[in-house]
Amino acid sequence: MKKLTLLALLIFIGIQFIPMDVPAEVPTKADEELQAPENVQAILKRSCFDCHSNHTKFPWYSNIAPISWFTKLHVKEGREHMNFSTWEKYDDEKKLKYLQKIPKAIKSKMPLPSYLLIHKEAKLSEADKKALTTWANDMAFDLE
Ligand code: HEC
Repeated sequence: MKKLTLLALLIFIGIQFIPMDVPAEVPTKADEELQAPENVQAILKRSCFDCHSNHTKFPWYSNIAPISWFTKLHVKEGREHMNFSTWEKYDDEKKLKYLQKIPKAIKSKMPLPSYLLIHKEAKLSEADKKALTTWANDMAFDLE
């Protein structure tokens, strides 16, 4: 039993050295950031920015493997899929694609349920969902 505990401890220490480097802050040009009305911007900041922007707030435990692998992978993937910090670099076609996906995404899976377990403040209220949906639809309409 003691040997197993020791082995588990050694593995735990060992995996801390497996690199998974996703920086919390990525340098971003101000004119590439999404500009949304204040109320929408506040919702996005609170509920989406940790994964869909270059400004991520990692809690302390997200530096500990294996938790770090999941959190950082989510951020890496989130940014790759849609990054509000580089929004203005997208062409209209890409913006339109994302805007059309937002209403459906927030109905079902966004923010990710595993994230909401820890970040209760990020849960979208019905009013938040309505505000985001209206904003996304209006923006999409302007682009079409
Ligand atoms: C914990 C990280 C996390 C948070 C927080 C989060 N997302 Fe995501 N999001 C992801 C990941 C990872 C993907 C890609 C995989 C997938 O689609 O499940 C994604 C995909 C998406 C997509 C699809 C993009 C595409 O290329 O198809 C949309 C739209 C989206 N998210 C919207 C949002 C919105 C709006 C919020 C805030 C209300 C939000 N997400 C919050 C991690 C997150």
